[in-house]
Amino acid sequence: MDIKSLKRMIRMLNRNNFIGKGVVIVLFFMTACIKEGPIGPVGPAGTDGVDGNVVCLECHNLSKKAATEANYYISQHAKGDYVDIVGGLQECAMCHSHEGFLETRWNGADTTNSAEGIAYPGAFTCVTCHDFHATLDFENDGPDYAIRDQSGTDLMLARRAGGSEVLDFGNANNLCVKCHQARIPAPDVGSSDSFTIAVTNFGPHHGPQANTLYGWGLVEIVGSESYPREGTHPHYQFAGCTGCHMGGVMNDRGGHTFNASVNNCKPCHTDATSFNRKNIQTDVKVLLDQIEDELESIGIVQAGQVISGTYAVEAVMAAYNWKWLAKEDRSLGVHNPDYIMAVLKNTLASL
Ligand code: HEC
Ligand code: HEC
Ligand code: HEC
Ligand code: HEC
Ligand code: HEC
Ligand code: HEC
Repeated sequence: MDIKSLKRMIRMLNRNNFIGKGVVIVLFFMTACIKEGPIGPVGPAGTDGVDGNVVCLECHNLSKKAATEANYYISQHAKGDYVDIVGGLQECAMCHSHEGFLETRWNGADTTNSAEGIAYPGAFTCVTCHDFHATLDFENDGPDYAIRDQSGTDLMLARRAGGSEVLDFGNANNLCVKCHQARIPAPDVGSSDSFTIAVTNFGPHHGPQANTLYGWGLVEIVGSESYPREGTHPHYQFAGCTGCHMGGVMNDRGGHTFNASVNNCKPCHTDATSFNRKNIQTDVKVLLDQIEDELESIGIVQAGQVISGTYAVEAVMAAYNWKWLAKEDRSLGVHNPDYIMAVLKNTLASL
């Protein structure tokens, strides 16, 4: 920069601000006073580094956010049809509203602290399931989706029956388990051969999918079929909830729609064209219908509902399994084909 243009610049800056003026003067002295020596030898090339931002920008950009949001609004989680009705109740909020879930993550309980529950419950948002990254060193520590809670779950069904059964995927699937687990165990009938159903909502409650996948919690009626041990099916070990329900997005399925997608079966079942692999869903539906017919003739089930009253223990246990698999699980066998077939065959034979 020659002296003339520098003066012109200072004049210009003078009219505007002082800091700019100072900077230009310092710049002038730097260029004017430092004398260059001879150029040193070329150093060795450094190892190729990773651009720190590139890995972050895979997820943190506006188009990714918009695409994820668009999928999310298809999800029942975003719609939250039952939030207004049950999202505020002390016993229900932990799984039915954003505020209830967060509170119970902090207090470690199954209910909100206050008997009044939550005054203004809201549907789930991104930050119901996500919070902080545990690591930003993905290269060494593996991917981190900033999942709010990836701890294992001591299943409610076990605790309410006075025991303990920890389901731990060791990854993001543990998040789904917090809410998609059975709540109410089959009645403990002791040595009695009859039982009185007093409630109108008999059964494990909605969303027992984690127990089904794990293979634990249905009534294991003794019969010709043997039950596989819990946690042994490849769907539990290698697919997990996210493996079938998230993954690649297609036709309003997969990804953050949380709807199961046939696309997700293909990495393992390359020939998959529907969920009805090897007729599992057809076979399960036939068995469920046969059990329902039997239960209807006993009178414990009418028009798809379990009816309160006093019944033989076999009918009560069969009704529990039927309600779980026909009304609540709804994968028609896919969640755990071997376990579900064993439960259904032995249940039908017991009636
Ligand atoms: C905070 C509790 C919670 C978590 C965590 C959660 N869900 Fe849900 N999920 C629900 C509730 C409650 C509903 C029903 C919402 C409604 O209708 O109001 C639901 C609905 C669904 C549905 C739709 C069911 C239907 O009838 O269409 C699917 C599928 C599902 N969840 C899968 C998952 C998967 C997979 C995960 C883990 C990635 C997960 N959920 C995590 C509570 C949860
Ligand atoms: C441990 C978590 C959990 C708790 C606690 C819980 N729910 Fe749910 N509930 C769910 C899940 C998950 C679903 C969605 C299941 C699905 O679509 O398969 C659901 C679904 C429902 C539905 C919709 C059923 C339908 O037919 O679509 C109602 C109604 C409901 N729950 C009522 C309640 C009430 C009332 C309470 C409290 C007494 C309660 N829930 C407590 C997890 C829970
Ligand atoms: C019901 C829980 C739940 C909600 C709500 C949710 N996420 Fe996720 N999200 C997950 C889980 C679980 C994973 C990990 C998926 C896996 O392991 O494959 C994930 C993964 C991601 C990822 C990384 C994987 C990918 O898709 O590339 C991004 C980004 C993301 N979520 C953004 C969002 C945004 C934005 C929202 C709100 C619009 C949102 N999430 C809402 C459960 C949730
Ligand atoms: C695989 C997808 C993914 C990658 C890669 C990723 N993030 Fe995230 N990040 C998320 C999700 C999902 C959330 C939670 C939802 C939200 O806050 O939008 C999040 C939240 C955050 C937050 C707010 C919460 C917190 O942890 O403080 C920061 C800051 C953040 N990310 C920084 C980074 C940085 C820095 C990198 C790169 C080193 C990075 N992220 C890479 C998915 C990702
Ligand atoms: C092997 C694949 C697979 C795994 C693993 C899996 N699901 Fe499913 N799930 C399915 C299929 C297939 C259906 C039936 C979907 C349909 O008919 O649209 C289903 C149905 C459901 C439904 C009822 C949805 C509806 O639209 O009626 C919920 C809720 C659900 N699964 C949640 C879960 C949760 C939570 C986990 C983990 C504990 C899980 N699933 C693991 C494949 C899987
Ligand atoms: C991570 C891999 C994986 C994924 C994803 C997966 N499965 Fe499977 N599945 C298996 C394995 C392994 C078996 C056991 C096969 C055997 O015993 O020969 C199996 C067995 C089955 C069976 C019992 C019949 C048979 O072939 O043995 C059905 C039905 C089934 N899967 C359906 C599905 C459906 C539907 C999906 C997608 C919604 C799916 N699976 C996704 C790995 C997977």
